[in-house]
Amino acid sequence: MTANQGIKPITCEINANGHIQIGGCDLVELADRYATPLYVYDEETIRTIAREYKSAFRDYPNIKMLYASKAFMTKAICKILSSEGFGFDVVSGGEIYTAYSAGVNMSDCLFNGNNKSVDELNMALELGVGKISVDNFLELALLNEIAISKGKIVDILLRITPGIECHTHEYIQTGHLDSKFGFDLTQIDSALELIIDEYKNLDLIGLHAHIGSQIFEPQIYYDEVGVMLKEIDRIKNKFGLELHTINLGGGLGIKYTENDLPPSVSEISEKITSAIDYYSKEYNLGDVNIYIEPGRSIVGTSGVTLYTVGSSKQVPNGKKYVAVDGGMADNPRPSLYQAVYTAQVANKPNDELTQTVTIAGRFCESGDILIKNVKMPELDEGDILCVYDTGAYGYSMSSNYNRVLKPAAVLVNNGQSDIIINRESYEELVSCDMVPDRLS
Ligand code: LLP
Repeated sequence: MTANQGIKPITCEINANGHIQIGGCDLVELADRYATPLYVYDEETIRTIAREYKSAFRDYPNIKMLYASKAFMTKAICKILSSEGFGFDVVSGGEIYTAYSAGVNMSDCLFNGNNKSVDELNMALELGVGKISVDNFLELALLNEIAISKGKIVDILLRITPGIECHTHEYIQTGHLDSKFGFDLTQIDSALELIIDEYKNLDLIGLHAHIGSQIFEPQIYYDEVGVMLKEIDRIKNKFGLELHTINLGGGLGIKYTENDLPPSVSEISEKITSAIDYYSKEYNLGDVNIYIEPGRSIVGTSGVTLYTVGSSKQVPNGKKYVAVDGGMADNPRPSLYQAVYTAQVANKPNDELTQTVTIAGRFCESGDILIKNVKMPELDEGDILCVYDTGAYGYSMSSNYNRVLKPAAVLVNNGQSDIIINRESYEELVSCDMVPDRLS
């Protein structure tokens, strides 16, 4: 079992106080000390899964692991993952800047995205971002121009849509043909002609694809390698261009509930390496370098969110709603993707589950429901609810909806807790607001 296959962080246990603890820290004490809502990240879970990735691919040295920063990025996370030997998949000026300010070796970064701005491309080249995955014709032209202006040759990959469907939520599927991302297989040749004949400051080293997210089917990675190496063979035969790198994207799923059965990292690595072995022989390709870009599976299980229980409402002959002090602004996934989560009460995890309730958020929208119909013990105002598996795409997609302050995040390890994101203050909340003179 790898860390993505459990619902809870690997250090999660019930302590002598009868409370849930993670990383040796009592969650009730954390809530008391740092206030709620609070994101809690377990360093050991992050490092463990990072090492599980490394170990799963230990027999395949030509691999570069890039952490998909979009899942959750702060300077502390950059420090942890770069110390584990990961590079970074970055998709915006903000992610590039965060990596840079954390002291990440920028040549270990790959810049992805379907509509990178001229400013962001300039920034990437100035800060030395190692590789750029070019998504479309406009970007090819812009990047070549910028590279000329800086006297640089830029290593690029071409983002392609391999036409592979996976059974995940429609909004997080990306590899199927009708997608906004990347070059369609039928557009690749035109892109190659431009690169070969005109864009002399772009050095094409390989192809990139990302099939989707929260993937449970290992076979998809086998098929993806097959499509990409077939394409590399076709390019070699048609253009005489030898590409040796394929970036397979991210996507490995995690276990949000007992019904989720994600594969282990080694099941994925086995599919990938056996496909490389098979297809590189079939097409006589020699050594193939692989990049992978896991995001959710690296940080998802490591993070939980703590909330304080507040008001509740029993609808006559209907549901019982219990409200907490956060919701769709700190975790938009339930309302966006109908995502389902598992939760426990941190101050009474052993109490009998006597009722079925709906956990509601505090935001002014009926759709702000965190968990529907979940079995809970008797709940009192002030109880601390721990929602598991919020480490990925929670904080990173959070907002200030209703002008509610963004929560803090703490990193726990061996009984120590450290703030890695400060709770926003009201001063910070209004700090970008401007009042034109004529309104003063
Ligand atoms: N590489 C590329 C090019 C991607 O677009 C993504 C995710 C990843 C890697 C990382 O995928 P992961 O290993 O995290 O599945 N907000 C959605 C997920 C969107 C994923 C977008 N791209 C959610 O909360 O489920």
